[in-house]
Amino acid sequence: MTPQATLRLENKDYSFPVIVGAEGEKALDIRNLRNDSGFITYDEGYGNTGSCQSAVTYIDGEAGVLRYRGFPIEQLAEHSSFIETAYLIVNGELPTPAQRKRFSQLLTENAPIHSSMEHLFEGFPVDAHPMAILSAMLNSLGCYYPHLATNDHARDLETYPETAAIIISKVRTIAAYSYRASRGLPYIYPRRDLPYCENFLHLMFSTPYEPYIALPEVAQALNLFLLLHADHEQNCSTSTVRMVASSGANLFASTAAGVCALWGPLHGGANMAVIEMLKSIHAEGDDGTKFIEAAKVGKADTRLMGFGHRVYKHYDPRAKIIKDSFYSALASLRIKDDPLLNIAMRLEEAALRDDYFLSRKLYPNVDFYSGLIMRAIGIPENMFTVMFAIGRMPGWIANWKEVAANPKGRIYRPRQIYTGKTVRDYVPPHQRK
Ligand code: ACO
Repeated sequence: MTPQATLRLENKDYSFPVIVGAEGEKALDIRNLRNDSGFITYDEGYGNTGSCQSAVTYIDGEAGVLRYRGFPIEQLAEHSSFIETAYLIVNGELPTPAQRKRFSQLLTENAPIHSSMEHLFEGFPVDAHPMAILSAMLNSLGCYYPHLATNDHARDLETYPETAAIIISKVRTIAAYSYRASRGLPYIYPRRDLPYCENFLHLMFSTPYEPYIALPEVAQALNLFLLLHADHEQNCSTSTVRMVASSGANLFASTAAGVCALWGPLHGGANMAVIEMLKSIHAEGDDGTKFIEAAKVGKADTRLMGFGHRVYKHYDPRAKIIKDSFYSALASLRIKDDPLLNIAMRLEEAALRDDYFLSRKLYPNVDFYSGLIMRAIGIPENMFTVMFAIGRMPGWIANWKEVAANPKGRIYRPRQIYTGKTVRDYVPPHQRK
């Protein structure tokens, strides 16, 4: 029998089923609350709200656990690649060799963008932010595939594997072209012989007269960065993708919305904010000590960027993995004595000893290191969040599918507590004070 929970409201008892997830996490199923009682729940920021049931990613923030489709992130980081992990997230299972080969073929075939799309990049001002370009271009991409972007979920699901591969492949080309457009650089065509990460670095950094050859450690650091960002359950951007999908919107439009949600500094923009913070500490001649003291005041504008997480109240498991890969990339690039790096290490050391951070369970999150990795690889700062978007694409795609394929799915439509004026009469302009 389904366990029930009782809630007493205004002297009346209401009974609600308790849902238990695959890992034993419990939720009150309050779908009938408003109908039965007239009450709604209030949970600004959704910290206590399960907005869906999902089989993609499991996180235990208290224990620092992250699993994609049941596989621990540590095992995937050690044995898998971003592309194999993307397949896993998008399709639910690790690919057989034949499926892996077919997926790679689809990615290779779909790497170039339509030549008329290249002209769209020219319509942006030269200093346009690559995240704005990426979002606009992903939505525009759907216009080149109207048969894959019908806004009829049943039809869009039939072509899901192809659409997923097109987006995962082309997002890399579009991202590199956004960068090239913002620098006035000529477009470089993708190469059929290069794996995903090496091809991205080629699209970014090769010139018509000199190919960019990625060091293996650099390609591996990028591979790991993308793999570690591939999904993270119901964060702001993924929930946005699901919200947009719930209206029936296609995969191109839904992921374009995800890019916009990711842009902000409290989400995907945090890795860029970490570097900006380190630069400003350096410019002020501080070694991090003064900044740590200011961060403890707890104001939003002096927060220690790259620290804290809504879900992890323990070390972010991704931060541990990325930190090691970071040092090996630094060694292969022979980067030593970088002043920003030294400040970052001092900040981390100091915060991990400080009672303010310890008592609030504020540990470094993945962004604390990912910005430094991107910087070491040579990715420009305004592209950091774009890199996050490339990595997060498999997760957005898998979450879109869950919404589109849910036979009981309803449009997402939260309620609110209205706090504005109560009813009043219209005042003609000449009577207004
Ligand atoms: N520096 C200093 N103090 C902090 C920080 C920080 N980075 N983060 C939280 N705090 C403090 C708050 O002031 C608050 O203190 P109080 O209890 O005295 O009022 C307490 O810790 C709890 O903070 P909340 O804001 O309630 O934490 P929340 O879960 O809402 O926020 C967030 C999480 C947004 C990540 C926050 O820790 C933050 O702003 N961090 C810096 C930005 C960042 O690194 N974002 C990346 C997130 S990871 C990602 O998107 C991949």
